[in-house]
Amino acid sequence: MSDLHTEILGPDQGGIARAAGILCRGGLVAFPTETVYGLGADARDDRAVAGIFAAKNRPSFNPLIVHVPDLAAAERIAVFSDTARDLAQAFWPGALTLVLPLRADAGIAPLVSAGLDSIAIRVPAHPLARDLLRACGCPLAAPSANPSGRVSPTRANHVMAGLSGRIDAVLDGGAADVGVESTIIGLAGAPRLLRPGGVPVEAIEACLGQPLNVDAPVTDTPNAPGQLESHYAPGAGVRLNVTQPDAGELWLGFGPDCAGATRNLSPAGDLTEAAANLFGMLRDLDDLATAGQGIAVAPVPDHGLGRAINDRLRRAAAPRPG
Ligand code: TXA
Ligand code: MG
Repeated sequence: MSDLHTEILGPDQGGIARAAGILCRGGLVAFPTETVYGLGADARDDRAVAGIFAAKNRPSFNPLIVHVPDLAAAERIAVFSDTARDLAQAFWPGALTLVLPLRADAGIAPLVSAGLDSIAIRVPAHPLARDLLRACGCPLAAPSANPSGRVSPTRANHVMAGLSGRIDAVLDGGAADVGVESTIIGLAGAPRLLRPGGVPVEAIEACLGQPLNVDAPVTDTPNAPGQLESHYAPGAGVRLNVTQPDAGELWLGFGPDCAGATRNLSPAGDLTEAAANLFGMLRDLDDLATAGQGIAVAPVPDHGLGRAINDRLRRAAAPRPG
């Protein structure tokens, strides 16, 4: 995974066109936003998005933020309430991310939202990010462009220090000036602060004319309660490390030894392909399962992206809170 030559692209038309070309064919490009550098991939391409998790060596699948050039593009992906539109008009382009219901026909890869029915979305203000989004013509999924567990990068050389050899390119736009990530507001129910960030809470409350619910903001700790509740859980029971499913169980396979599997995450045993398929296949199986029918899952090796896959599968198999 560290055999790529990572190109450093200049902040000009040539650099933007090259970055857009790489993204359009499923590659990974780090780009500047006004908050921090993001590691971008085509948000419609599950395999490209799986590549983000592989490059970052992330041990779990957090849902990612989708970046779009303007409100009209955002409205094609998410369902906006009046409140959501007010916030977007007040703070976009800028360091505010809204978590909204995902449109069924949005065409966003399930891995981006970690299988959830909601989507985190923002319009960045950085001119290069905006030029890049227009040039590629697709929404970009982008977490901060750092290896998992390290601080977020605010310069291209920080990105190179962490990810050189693991991504295709970095678009060098100098220093990101906000330096902290975007503020995330959940709008599923009453407006809720999910992560403090670049836009002050007070400014958001002033726009809303009401206080934000600030219980249990999400942290980057995978086991923080706020994050657990934001995970998609199949309705069907899930059993792990099953090499021989019981009669009547649906079987989610991995690798070549799973003949007869209902779905196979990767017949070739490729972890990136498996990650790309994970959430879509869990949903498929959940839809197929009749009442009381369980899902058996083949063992997945616990290295590289396999760690994130197993983390997600363990959550799916854990006893449900009542
Ligand atoms: O400033 C930023 O927001 C940067 C730049 C690159 O835009 N991006 C960033 O992305 O910080 P990331 O992936 O590191 O953070 C995404 C956060 C995660 O904490 C995740 O839990 C939350 O957004 N999130 C994403 N989708 C969500 C959803 N559907 N529901 C709840 N939380 C969500
Ligand atoms: Mg981050």
